[in-house]
Amino acid sequence: MINTYDIDLKAVLRDNPELRIERDDYDFTVTTHFGSKIAKEETLSRYSTFGGKGKPAHLYIHVPLCSYICHYCNYVKTRYSGKDETILDRWTNALLTESKAYLRLAPWLCEARIESVYFGGGTAALLHERHLRQLMEHLRGNYSLTEDCEITLEGNPDNFDREKIDAAIGLGYNRFSVGIQSLDDKVLEFVGRGHNAETAVKAIEQLVRTSYPVNIDYIVGLPYQTVDSVAKEVEDLVALGTHQVSIYRLRNADRVGLGLDIGQRSAWNQLQTSHAIAPGVFPTLEETYSIRGVLMRLLLERGYRPAPAAWWSREGVYANGICATPRNKWQNMDSMIAFGPGAYGWLTGGREDILQTHNPTNISDYLHRVEDLKEIPLSHGRYVSGREAVATALGFLFKACQKMDVSKIRARFHIDILNEEPYKEVLFTLVNKGFLHFPLEGDCFIPTLAGEALHEEIVHIYFNQWLGALNLPQNQQR
Ligand SMILES: C[S@@+](CC[C@H](N)C(=O)[O-])C[C@H]1O[C@@H](n2cnc3c(N)ncnc32)[C@H](O)[C@@H]1O
Ligand code: SF4
Repeated sequence: MINTYDIDLKAVLRDNPELRIERDDYDFTVTTHFGSKIAKEETLSRYSTFGGKGKPAHLYIHVPLCSYICHYCNYVKTRYSGKDETILDRWTNALLTESKAYLRLAPWLCEARIESVYFGGGTAALLHERHLRQLMEHLRGNYSLTEDCEITLEGNPDNFDREKIDAAIGLGYNRFSVGIQSLDDKVLEFVGRGHNAETAVKAIEQLVRTSYPVNIDYIVGLPYQTVDSVAKEVEDLVALGTHQVSIYRLRNADRVGLGLDIGQRSAWNQLQTSHAIAPGVFPTLEETYSIRGVLMRLLLERGYRPAPAAWWSREGVYANGICATPRNKWQNMDSMIAFGPGAYGWLTGGREDILQTHNPTNISDYLHRVEDLKEIPLSHGRYVSGREAVATALGFLFKACQKMDVSKIRARFHIDILNEEPYKEVLFTLVNKGFLHFPLEGDCFIPTLAGEALHEEIVHIYFNQWLGALNLPQNQQR
């Protein structure tokens, strides 16, 4: 088992060439590849009768506005100059309209147990206090939020001044997530961020002062990064008292070009842009993983744990070690209700099959459907069952970086992963390669640190492609 703090990820990649995925091929989506596409009407009909009453669920609200467009970003968003506040009113109303339409369609929705709400984007923190209040009052008045519901406001450093933070806390937000990406002004400028390192540090200081959990997003694989520069930056972030550090590897695969039904093209997806970047500016795959390895060691030494993978939380921040937003979403694959352009969700209710919902990624199309056609802005659904559903669930569990409980999987899917193929072969291949630990006395598999470091690649290759027999676009097959 590979589970020391010193993992040579370059050697792991050398020994497992199938996991070498270059930057421009690298993408990771948890929901979209599997299942048969189903029409909007059929999806809504199944949605309306879903047995979600009393079951745990999570809410995601996508605010697709950004003050600036970062060159790497493949999320659904559009530029908001900040001059015309009616745009914020318009988006708040559109999101409320979508939510109300679902509440009318699906009576169970108001009785689902909402364990977490995530206001993301784009940049949710661009909304003003009055918009955040409108949205919160709507949620509290129409959904059953659990008493300890974790309510996150996500934004950029330039959004989080003292006034905004205090207003958010007054409204009931109890977790913050801020995208830092880097603490190097040269990198920030290169990627088109509209803030510098000083603003980032100030925002973290203001947020940490609240004593509510604060996550920061950090990307590895950005231009100019080196092992030393990144290690120094993450030391600084840790010293600021950040509760959680999410480490993302730069994903530069062109989701649109690949025919996937989420996200947008990033500036760097466009060939002419990436060709214009001088060779050697981006770290190589090996360098990227050296950086990742060093960060893992540093975070472990400073008392952070991967929970779930890539979201490193300081021990003691969350009662059971893992924050609610991903906890039951990944560990139990509980339902995810998602609103906004490009948002995608899934209804599971602890059952074997999954009903996915996909909203239009085209922002004008989304608004046209909500405002002019007065219809639910759903693009289509996907229905995932059988081996694909098991592969999805196991992939989620692996990503959670928690125990993969054999008996729980047996109870939910009626399969014995210890003895039935192809599950047995896939899981024990991962054990032999050092990506999963299988304690002899136990009835579970546990991802190792090497498994954590390469979890996206492993989910892609071993769970989606091998277990799920996923038919990926040609250039994504390995
Ligand atoms: C969609 S953004 C929204 C948050 C906020 N607007 C911000 O920029 O911090 C959430 C996070 O996704 C990550 N992200 C966006 N595009 C990415 C990409 N192409 N590869 C890796 N991570 C990416 C960034 O770390 C970002 O903070
Ligand atoms: S990273 Fe954040 S601010 Fe930058 S374009 Fe993406 S969503 Fe907008």
